[in-house]
Amino acid sequence: MASQRIEELLRSMSLEEKLGEMTQLAPFFFGVDESMDLTGPMAELGLSPEDIKCVGSTLNSFGAEQNIALQKKHMAEQPHGIPLLFMADVIHGYRTVFPIPLAMGCSFHPAACEKAAEVAAKESSASGIQLTFAPMADLVRDPRWGRVMESPGEDPYLNARMTEAAVKGFQGEDPKAPGRIAACIKHFAGYGAAEGGRDYNTVDISAGTLREYYLPAYHAGIDAGAKMVMTSFNIMDRIPAGANEMLFDQILRKEWGFTGTVISDFAAANETIVHGYAKDGAEAAQRYIHAGCDIEMMSSHYIHYGKELVEQGKLTMEEIDRSVRHILELKEELGLFENPFKDADAEREKALCLCPEHREAARQVARESVVLLKNEQVLPLDANREGLKVGLAGPFAVSKNILGGWAGTGTGVASLEAGLREMMPKAEFVTGMTEELGAMQDGIFDVEDHVAEACEALKECDVIIAAVGENPADTGEAASRTCLRLSPNQEKLVYELKKLGKPVVMLVFSGRPLEIRPMLPYADAVVQAWFLGTEAGTALADILTGAYNPSGRLSISFPQTVGQIPVYYNHYNTGRPLGSAEGRYASRYLDCPNEPLFPFGYGLSYSEFRYSDMRAVVDDEGILASVQVENISDVVGVETVQCYTHDLAGSVVRPLMELKGFEQIELAAHEKKEVSFRITRDMLRFHNDRLEFVFEPGEFDIMIGHSSADVLTQRVTLGE
Ligand code: GLC
Repeated sequence: MASQRIEELLRSMSLEEKLGEMTQLAPFFFGVDESMDLTGPMAELGLSPEDIKCVGSTLNSFGAEQNIALQKKHMAEQPHGIPLLFMADVIHGYRTVFPIPLAMGCSFHPAACEKAAEVAAKESSASGIQLTFAPMADLVRDPRWGRVMESPGEDPYLNARMTEAAVKGFQGEDPKAPGRIAACIKHFAGYGAAEGGRDYNTVDISAGTLREYYLPAYHAGIDAGAKMVMTSFNIMDRIPAGANEMLFDQILRKEWGFTGTVISDFAAANETIVHGYAKDGAEAAQRYIHAGCDIEMMSSHYIHYGKELVEQGKLTMEEIDRSVRHILELKEELGLFENPFKDADAEREKALCLCPEHREAARQVARESVVLLKNEQVLPLDANREGLKVGLAGPFAVSKNILGGWAGTGTGVASLEAGLREMMPKAEFVTGMTEELGAMQDGIFDVEDHVAEACEALKECDVIIAAVGENPADTGEAASRTCLRLSPNQEKLVYELKKLGKPVVMLVFSGRPLEIRPMLPYADAVVQAWFLGTEAGTALADILTGAYNPSGRLSISFPQTVGQIPVYYNHYNTGRPLGSAEGRYASRYLDCPNEPLFPFGYGLSYSEFRYSDMRAVVDDEGILASVQVENISDVVGVETVQCYTHDLAGSVVRPLMELKGFEQIELAAHEKKEVSFRITRDMLRFHNDRLEFVFEPGEFDIMIGHSSADVLTQRVTLGE
């Protein structure tokens, strides 16, 4: 229920002022006045300085001093004293940068994701940010899409847990509280299903697939209390998502009860014209406002056409007031009417950003996000061995450009070399061919070939670390790729280093699964290093030296080859699964296995875990499944025990596996623990052919194990 203040404002604001409140512009629009040349962005959007006085929010304006000044100026000119709302992309950290969200998904540790969001909120709120365009809850299956780096991964259940954790980290119990910011769930909906993994491309998925796979994480973010939802660029069922009333009215508002604010993605309202759904700016504004999009980001159709649309009866004042009310309620919930600056404080910003406590938090989350993919008794390295000669080669060996997308270049970054020198003071390091890899975005597709020199320099080393990957600028938005292999000279470097006859440890710095199958025979150990943020180098050194026993598990499948995409674990069976009686006439490739190179949930440890004695019993509450997990090694370690189900027959086909729970346990050397999972009928519900969310009795396989490809199974029958 809107406050009296808001109802009074709605009564006193003109229609033009309301349409301004429904518009979001970049900060450079706010510095404009009559004395400045009104060409460029102002002319492009057809705006006047008078329009700017009523604009309701800005994006990506950073720095306490700048934002305090901007708010003071705006409040002095705003006809009703309505404060500006400062929003920004604080995706995986502000100044202390955490691992990319896909890497944090591999931690299988929601609390780690929550911690990252909490620190990001503290630092960014001190800089004057009041809402972040995060978490991104898009389910992803196609590593050709550059934005897989922003998602927790390919599973609805894991993505839901990580999304709700991020919302809690950003907002706390109340985003008005000091050090907290409001969260925005994005991109609603189905952006990750772009055909061909090509960003902004067509999405064409069934209603069932949308609800079963893509919607759960958004829903979890809403249920966790996120204050905002952002529209996605793609179409959904042939309608641009932000104008799709099934998504924004039926599902978001009516079914899920969302009462917060909806914002368009960047100029997405205008793109309804480009999609061919609106004939002009007026129709774009009409369709977006009617579908319930409250704020138009970085286009100006609301300002230009809102008034005539109301006068023509194509929009109602109730629709306008509904949107303005959402925006003013958000500002009221953030306490901006009492304190327009919220937590903006230059001294506090300086003290908090990159402080030791935040760096330590980033290092811990980074440790948990690393996935050990292969280890032929090479790791951990012996940090205590005097004079161990360690070779360091490849474009990421000494690079500090390892923060990942949406994080810029950052300061205070620990490179791999710096981390190793800190953790291995007794070792001797030799480097070779460490020139950084340029960006495909800049037309650079490889590093120079200094392989011969590198091999000559490193030939006497005891162990060689090859730090390879992709440039962070070639990940994230507008960064789709059709070939996911390492660049030719990086592959050549690994091949040739292996010929030196020494152990080779390959570290892969990437924002997506790369096609590393060709490299596996030449690497004795493979570590998926992602882009781990400010403490990347120290966290990786912790892993390589065994100071931290790797515990990461893949939240996205690694394809054998790009031709295999999409490959994901929670797929349907088909009528001719490989291994069926059909032999040749089975669903398979002639030139590639069906299985991924590395499956969802996979990851190695320096410990070794054995599963035994799995049980699944039916009781009044549903199914109680349990298993014994033993650490049969001499090394204490953390294991992520995963629980999956398979509904053998349903009124629609059902995935062969669905993650229903996971539990991280630490086991000392030779320690054994029982782990159990409660599976209720509610957890087994799904959308039937009429999209009713139902439980159907029948036979279920319950699977518990180390990964989606390594489980123990018990079959049960569960009735109504
Ligand atoms: C971008 C992205 C979105 C981001 C927004 C504001 O185009 O799609 O994720 O939050 O614009 O920068």
